[in-house]
Amino acid sequence: MSLYDGVDLRLNVPHSARMYDYFLGGFTNFAADREAAGHVLAIAPWVHDAARANRSFMHRSTRALALAGIDQFLDIGTGIPTSPNLHEIAQGVEPRARVVYADNDPIVLTHAQALLTGNPEGRTAYVEADVTDPVGLLAAPGLRDTIDFSRPVALSLNALLHFVPDAHGAYELVDHLKSVLAPGSALVMTHLTAEFAPEEIGRVIGIYEAAGTAVQARARAEFARFFDGWSLLPPGVVPIPHWRPTADEPPLSASESTGYAGVALRP
Ligand SMILES: C[S@@+](CC[C@H](N)C(=O)[O-])C[C@H]1O[C@@H](n2cnc3c(N)ncnc32)[C@H](O)[C@@H]1O
Repeated sequence: MSLYDGVDLRLNVPHSARMYDYFLGGFTNFAADREAAGHVLAIAPWVHDAARANRSFMHRSTRALALAGIDQFLDIGTGIPTSPNLHEIAQGVEPRARVVYADNDPIVLTHAQALLTGNPEGRTAYVEADVTDPVGLLAAPGLRDTIDFSRPVALSLNALLHFVPDAHGAYELVDHLKSVLAPGSALVMTHLTAEFAPEEIGRVIGIYEAAGTAVQARARAEFARFFDGWSLLPPGVVPIPHWRPTADEPPLSASESTGYAGVALRP
């Protein structure tokens, strides 16, 4: 009996979540994922560091928001668990924090148990859902039972929306998710851009698209548009490693970061 019995993981096709796991040094990846990830690294060897920098931004932004008093978190496009996961950071600050994870990848679901071992005082839940159907996602019982939408929520969409092209409703779905959140809620995002390394990122996108995964890198202004109407927290929209860096992390250049980060509050 294996963890994956009865789950169609399409192991012969590279998958974005498993390639990301490989970039992070994880073990939930298979030959096709490693081969495609190897092609990416041959073009852009800094992607290893960029993936870690993206993760580290999640730690810093979650800690900052928990310290500011937010105790409910909705993380969409969670990915394969990589400790520390978001609930470990949030509950490390506020043990009663409630965290809901959502992803549409069956392999993430099979690992959800690892995500759900939260602090007994807090609560964690996992919902299998697609961000392109925000109405269905928000109606999931596991989410409604855990999050009180009359109070502030930190919504994180990290390294997710470059997998949702404009034609699949990226801006509309973010607007919908923002509209259900109470004043004082936060939108936390990272996103691939081609602005720092256009030639390399163009070729990397080709590898994902050859595997059937649509990717749309966005320019700074296109990324900033997701936050429209909300107040960006300092330092605003910046390359991912430049969002409130800590002294104990190696400084990465913008080109090595591959993406932008931002955190905004609903007025
Ligand atoms: C690069 S990983 C990012 C993981 C994590 N958010 C982080 O930043 O460390 C992207 C995740 O988004 C998920 N994903 C992609 N498209 C999605 C969709 N339409 N709905 C929900 N999740 C999606 C993938 O399955 C994958 O787990």
